[in-house]
Amino acid sequence: MPELSPTTKPTENTGESKPDNCWHPQSWRQLNARQQPNYQSQNQVTEVEGQLAGYPPLVFAEEARALRRQLGDVAAGKAFLLQGGDCAESFSDFSADGIRDTFKVLLQMAVVLTFAGNLPVVKVARMAGQYAKPRSADNETLNGVTLPSYRGDIINGIEFSKTARQPDPARMLTAYNQSASTLNLLRAFAQGGLADLHQVHGWNQSFVQNNPLREKYAQLAGRLQDALEFMEVCGVSSSNTPTLRETTLYTSHEALLLNYEQALTRVDSLSGKWYDCSAHMLWIGERTRQLDGAHVEFLSGVCNPIGVKLGPTTTGETLLRLLDKLNPHNEAGRITLITRMGADLLAEKLPSLTRTVTREGRAVVWSTDPMHGNTVKASSGYKTRNFDNILREIRDFFAVHRAEGSHPGGIHLEMTGQHVTECTGGAWKISDADLATCYRTQCDPRLNADQVLELAFCLADWLREGRK
Ligand code: PEP
Ligand code: CO
Repeated sequence: MPELSPTTKPTENTGESKPDNCWHPQSWRQLNARQQPNYQSQNQVTEVEGQLAGYPPLVFAEEARALRRQLGDVAAGKAFLLQGGDCAESFSDFSADGIRDTFKVLLQMAVVLTFAGNLPVVKVARMAGQYAKPRSADNETLNGVTLPSYRGDIINGIEFSKTARQPDPARMLTAYNQSASTLNLLRAFAQGGLADLHQVHGWNQSFVQNNPLREKYAQLAGRLQDALEFMEVCGVSSSNTPTLRETTLYTSHEALLLNYEQALTRVDSLSGKWYDCSAHMLWIGERTRQLDGAHVEFLSGVCNPIGVKLGPTTTGETLLRLLDKLNPHNEAGRITLITRMGADLLAEKLPSLTRTVTREGRAVVWSTDPMHGNTVKASSGYKTRNFDNILREIRDFFAVHRAEGSHPGGIHLEMTGQHVTECTGGAWKISDADLATCYRTQCDPRLNADQVLELAFCLADWLREGRK
């Protein structure tokens, strides 16, 4: 009988995992780690790390392996990846309603995409751990006062005061606890009735009915209604078919704060391999993907599925070296390449990367993040993104992959289920002047529930075209 506990002792090298090199959960500490906080007390950091290392893992390694298998299907063009959630989760804006609304809208999108694309949709939330943020500057100056930049609630506070901006290691414990409660609720929603397909379709119908562009979406919603009625007549219903009333939603975040990620890294007792049990999937950000850097080193040794953000300066050569390091055995499902080029640059920059990857026979999931290359400052002073630019980057992403013969495998969004006004445009025509109405993000502007569903309906058309 294998031992069923998902872990052995944390952060100890048992010698049974990853024999390929001398990787160890600590090995990143020998290298340059960008975007890390400057903690005042090293003793306090060590104490918190010790505490976290003794806490239960948030996810089970077998779940991460299941996601890896599903992402293998995405890499082969047999499924589609939908990844989304807040830019940054926050300690203060933390509620069951917020979690439920994002969960609901992710499911609503997934139903539209599954039906239109005739493909299973792998759902991955940017939730239950998305607390650390990379920043373009270490400091921020306001009215002549210079303080450390805000780096996410797991590190320091957003208020512009000396006390709030001082990095505090105890925040890692709060982030862990808040991630555990979020994950608990997500699991309950996924299995406990909120994910019922008929219910989700009902929410989509009210979206269509209330939308200014309702005619545009009515046809797809109507066909889905017919399909559900047909299944019902054939005796396939949620009461006798669990897959109609349950779902799986995986979690993900940027593996930025390496002290935290290391403390949650454990040897899985079933496989003997290392897993970062803070989330199912982790990604490396655009600012921390240096080949010889600490983040790439750390993630090269854990067996979770890994994402890598790729901005417009990425060269084919760098990409290949990253793949060599992160996926030396070229296993499908291990790597998701998340391009974030910007709508103006994608069509120029993406083809050479896809050609390189295809030529070298590397198995990857190609996903598009149409958010981070399209951030602008509105005349009102707010950081925003325009719906049309977001759509344009996605449309070009599909067009490039179709032209190059690779699979447009997924989408990575900053979004919320709430009715915020952070991105301009969409059917409700949010303008610069509207941004102040409900601008609540901790960091970057998110698509709201209506915008994100509208986007799903547009995406559905492109997915359907590809299936023809
Ligand atoms: C993010 O996804 O929030 C982010 C910071 O992205 P990037 O690393 O692509 O800038
Ligand atoms: Co962001």
